[in-house]
Amino acid sequence: MLSTHPIQMPFDFRRLCSVTSWSLFPGMTAKAVGDAHAMAEERSDVPDQPFYHESILLEEVVHFLAPSEGRLIVDGTLGGGGHTEALLRAGAAVKGIDRDADARNYATERLARFGGRFEAVAGCFSEISRLAEIGNWGKLDGILLDLGVSSHQLDAGERGFSFRFDGPLDMRMGDEGATAADLVNGWDEADLRQIFWDLGEEKFARKIAAWIVQKRQKAPFETTLQLADGIEKLIGRRGRTHPATKVFQALRMEVNDELGELRRFLEVAPALLKIGGRLAIITFHSLEDRIVKQTFRDASKAEIDRPEWPAPRPNPDHVYRLLTRKGVAPGGEEVSRNARSRSSRLRVVERIKTPVL
Ligand SMILES: C[S@@+](CC[C@H](N)C(=O)[O-])C[C@H]1O[C@@H](n2cnc3c(N)ncnc32)[C@H](O)[C@@H]1O
Repeated sequence: MLSTHPIQMPFDFRRLCSVTSWSLFPGMTAKAVGDAHAMAEERSDVPDQPFYHESILLEEVVHFLAPSEGRLIVDGTLGGGGHTEALLRAGAAVKGIDRDADARNYATERLARFGGRFEAVAGCFSEISRLAEIGNWGKLDGILLDLGVSSHQLDAGERGFSFRFDGPLDMRMGDEGATAADLVNGWDEADLRQIFWDLGEEKFARKIAAWIVQKRQKAPFETTLQLADGIEKLIGRRGRTHPATKVFQALRMEVNDELGELRRFLEVAPALLKIGGRLAIITFHSLEDRIVKQTFRDASKAEIDRPEWPAPRPNPDHVYRLLTRKGVAPGGEEVSRNARSRSSRLRVVERIKTPVL
């Protein structure tokens, strides 16, 4: 049963304050970062796993976005439409943005019964202002982002996201721009090293980048397994996590400019929300989570202070009220049902009336 009102709390509200270990960044370990992609690669053993994607922190999202009749919510990462469906069932209208045509087609079919209350929209969530203007959406009651890849994208070998299948080294969520193969075969060693280190926190970044550059002189990398098996031979396997996990994560994030998308979205989001409208973001990666956490925190402070100032001053960027001080983690039951949820965190803010300074 889904909650549609903040008073009905279907989950233990105390868990909102239970995520003490998530302040791991910047001291967050490479293992924790790699876990995000490794978890995404893990299949849940539950037999009734949905065909497309199992939605994460579903009840919590519904609780915070409080969907109801007459409200308009944008799901900026439509995917299989699981979150969107819960919002529609509670009575809201939803515009579901996705850059992936497979996701839009699947969700359109799944959600057809909601008629005109649902619309799938092609594009990137960083373009939300333009999409809202074209669609004449007006101010929004809520926005949701559930970042990263869907299980469907990972499970479709031909999309090239996964080292579990042999496929073209592609990794694009949409159908434009450079592929992972373009990066691996064309980028300088220093640039490859940098993204493996920054986005994957891969401690063998230097060794792997040097090996790629040497190997591609003979023949370009074309498939996922060429890269994954080569990395496994190069650095060996320890434990359950595949040694190519962090490199694959880094390439995926770079190919889809995932951090750039998030930053550009966060800049425009406040102007799209009604006063009282809410923004909920689920992250899976420490860098993403740090960006969201800092942006929400900075925009929720009434005052800013500097040592050189005689007194604190009003914050001109004060546009939000923070609803999740520490981020919401999935409960034990969700984690055991869906291993992929383990590294997820939900952060939510509410648009406030901008103070006149
Ligand atoms: C984790 S899945 C979302 C799953 C969805 N919440 C559900 O319940 O089924 C993320 C989806 O967002 C899409 N996506 C990721 N980054 C995007 C971006 N910058 N703009 C638009 N869509 C994006 C992906 O193509 C993918 O389908």
